[in-house]
Amino acid sequence: MQRIPVRAPSGNYLVCCGRGICARVGPLVEGLGDADRIFLLSSPRVWARWGQTVAKSFRGAAPEILFDDRESSKNLGTVERICRALAKAGADRRTLLVAIGGGVVGDVAGFVAASYQRGVGLVHVPTTLLAQIDSAIGGKTGVNLPEGKNLVGAFYQPQLVVSDPETLRTLSARQYRAGLYEAIKYGVLGDAGLFRFVEHRMPELLRRDSTAVGRVVARCVRIKAEIVRRDERERGLRESLNLGHTIGHALEAATNYRRFLHGEAVGWGMLGATLISVGLGRLDEREAGRIARLIARVGPLPPLRGISPGRLLRIMRRDKKSRASRIGWVMPRGIGRVELQVAVPEALVAKALRELPRLYEQARERP
Ligand SMILES: NC(=O)c1ccc[n+]([C@@H]2O[C@H](COP(=O)([O-])OP(=O)(O)OC[C@H]3O[C@@H](n4cnc5c(N)ncnc54)[C@H](O)[C@@H]3O)[C@@H](O)[C@H]2O)c1
Ligand SMILES: [Zn+2]
Repeated sequence: MQRIPVRAPSGNYLVCCGRGICARVGPLVEGLGDADRIFLLSSPRVWARWGQTVAKSFRGAAPEILFDDRESSKNLGTVERICRALAKAGADRRTLLVAIGGGVVGDVAGFVAASYQRGVGLVHVPTTLLAQIDSAIGGKTGVNLPEGKNLVGAFYQPQLVVSDPETLRTLSARQYRAGLYEAIKYGVLGDAGLFRFVEHRMPELLRRDSTAVGRVVARCVRIKAEIVRRDERERGLRESLNLGHTIGHALEAATNYRRFLHGEAVGWGMLGATLISVGLGRLDEREAGRIARLIARVGPLPPLRGISPGRLLRIMRRDKKSRASRIGWVMPRGIGRVELQVAVPEALVAKALRELPRLYEQARERP
C-alpha cells in the first residue's frame, strides 16, 4: 500500500492506494478514531459491485444510503434527500460519511459532508479512474443547477482517500478510457516520466493491469497533491489542471453533455491546445506529435461531426464573459511543462478547431 500525503492549507490527509485495499476501508476509517456514527454513501450501481466488500470490512454498524449517480441527479434535490435520511437516522456532528463511487457520488457526498450540521467527517473511496486521479483529491465538492454545472459547492477536504485499482475492473471500457485522457493530461502538464510510462505501458493500461494502473494513479495523485498544497483555491497554479478543458467544456456544452464523457472532451481539448501551441510557436512539432499519438492510442474518441468551430467559439466567448475576463489558455510548452494565462488570437483557435479531425486521423494512422 502506498500512502501519499496531501497537505492542503485547510487540512492534511492521506491517500492510500493499493490492490485489494477496498476490503480494508473499515479498519482504515475506524483508525481515524473520532466518529460516533459512520454512513456509507453510494449509488445502486457501484453498491451492487463493491458495496459488500467495503461494508463487510467495518466492525461496527455502517448503514448505507444509496442515491442515483447520473449527472442529472447531481443536484440540490439529491443533497436534500441524503441530508434528510441522515437526520432521520439521528446523524449528529460526530458523524462520518464514506463516499463510494465515481465523481458524481464524491461531489454530492462531499457537499453533503461540508454542509450537514455545518460539516461532518468525509472519506472518499473513488471507484472510477477519473475519481481516483482527480475528483477525490483536492476538496472541490458541489452540485449542478439547471443554469450550469457545479454552480453550488464548497471546498471541503476529506480525512482520508482509499483508492483500489481493482475496483476499476468493473468499469465500462469507455468510462475507463475517459480517465486515461486525464492521466495523460497530468503527464503533459507536469511529469514527463509519467508521460513516458503511459507511452510504454499503454497495452497493460488498456488491459487494466492493476500494477500498471496503480503506478499511474499514484503518480497522478502525487501531482495533484502538490498542486493543491501550493494552490488549494485555484488562484494560480491549480489552473494548470485545466489543460484541455477550455475546448473540452465547450464540446460538452455544445452537445448538451450527451456525446462526450468528460475525459473524452478533454482528450479532444488537449489535441486542440497542442495544435494552438504549435501555431503560437510555443511547442515543438515532435513533442506535439507524441502528445497527439498518445491520445489517439487510448481509443476512439466520439467524432466532432456537426459541431462547427463557430459554435464552439461562441460558447467559449460566453464562458469568458461570465467570468468577466479574457480566456487564459493553458498551453503545453513541452511534455511535462505548461504555461498559464496565455492569450490566443481567436483566428488561431478557429484554425486549430478546423484542423482537429485531420490531426486526430493522422495520429490514429501512425501509432
Ligand atoms: N470535484 C472535482 O474536483 C471534480 C473533478 C473532475 C470531475 N468532477 C465531477 O465528476 C463527475 C464525473 O465523475 P466520473 O467520471 O467518475 O463519473 P461518474 O461518477 O458519473 O461515474 C460514471 C459511471 O460509472 C459507474 N461506476 C462508478 N464506479 C464504478 C465501478 N467501479 N464499476 C462499475 N461502474 C462504476 C457509475 O455508476 C456511473 O454510471 C462529474 O460530475 C464532474 O463534474 C469533479
Ligand atoms: Zn477534467
